[in-house]
Amino acid sequence: MLFTTAFLVAATMVGVSQAQTPTGFTPSVKTKLDVLFNSTAVNTPGQQLTKAATASQPQIAITNASSSETFMFVMLDLDVPGQGGNATRRTLLHAMVTNFKATSQRVLGSSSTATSSTLLLSSQKGPASYLGPSPPATDTKAHRYVELLFQQPANLNVQASDFANTQARIGFDINAFMKTNGIKAPLAGNFFTVDGRANGAATGSGTATGSGGIAKNTLQPFTGASGRVGASLGLAVIFGGLAL
Ligand SMILES: *[C@@H]1O[C@H](CO)[C@@H](O)[C@H](O)[C@H]1NC(C)=O
Ligand SMILES: *[C@@H]1O[C@H](CO)[C@@H](O)[C@H](O)[C@H]1NC(C)=O
Ligand SMILES: *[C@@H]1O[C@H](CO)[C@@H](O)[C@H](O)[C@H]1NC(C)=O
Repeated sequence: MLFTTAFLVAATMVGVSQAQTPTGFTPSVKTKLDVLFNSTAVNTPGQQLTKAATASQPQIAITNASSSETFMFVMLDLDVPGQGGNATRRTLLHAMVTNFKATSQRVLGSSSTATSSTLLLSSQKGPASYLGPSPPATDTKAHRYVELLFQQPANLNVQASDFANTQARIGFDINAFMKTNGIKAPLAGNFFTVDGRANGAATGSGTATGSGGIAKNTLQPFTGASGRVGASLGLAVIFGGLAL
């Protein structure tokens, strides 16, 4: 009897392990996606990082990667302010990168007890290339950036042209996208925060760095990895009031 009880308690504790995604966010994920930026890793869900540290696409790793699987990485900002004083915040698709495969490279876990995980790599930059976080210095809260790893369906039909107009990234609905494309619940996830207020002074004159950064100057057209995007002037105006 005693043994059974103890066993159940232990099992329950394992079961209630911390969600890796923000409270209230769906799809919620319990398995950790290792998100490794050049200078820092996301060690605990919700950890605050700087714009500078997150300017380039992170490397990703999971503890249990099957070499036969293909993965898709998605990153979302959950806290883009609404338009024209609308208090409802919106999402922005910061990255959707397909064709990740397990490598033979191992990454040491962030906690001392963690096992090493398998680095995943892709030669792709899209269909939606990585945009570094750039929440405005005038915002009232830090933005949450969620990273999700999905098993990529063999017949996934998503093109760079789907996101050629950056407007297509605003209000991106991951649940609808999953449904439309027959994508199963994410295998792993994580999230970090970036506070535009904290970064305002720290980055000073810094311009968006890395490929696919959004130009900070609101009068500059947005340029992605593939150069100018769409109707630059219109986008510049729209992005002028937009927190990314
Ligand atoms: C981070 O590393 C990538 C290569 O993995 C490089 O292209 C990029 O410039 C680096 N970014 C910073 C901020 O060091
Ligand atoms: C590893 O992942 C596969 C599916 O990707 C799953 O079936 C299996 O149970 C996982 N193993 C562990 C130890 O988590
Ligand atoms: C405010 O923004 C939300 C989310 O984008 C939208 O559903 C809603 O219709 C907007 N409200 C108004 C009054 O524009």
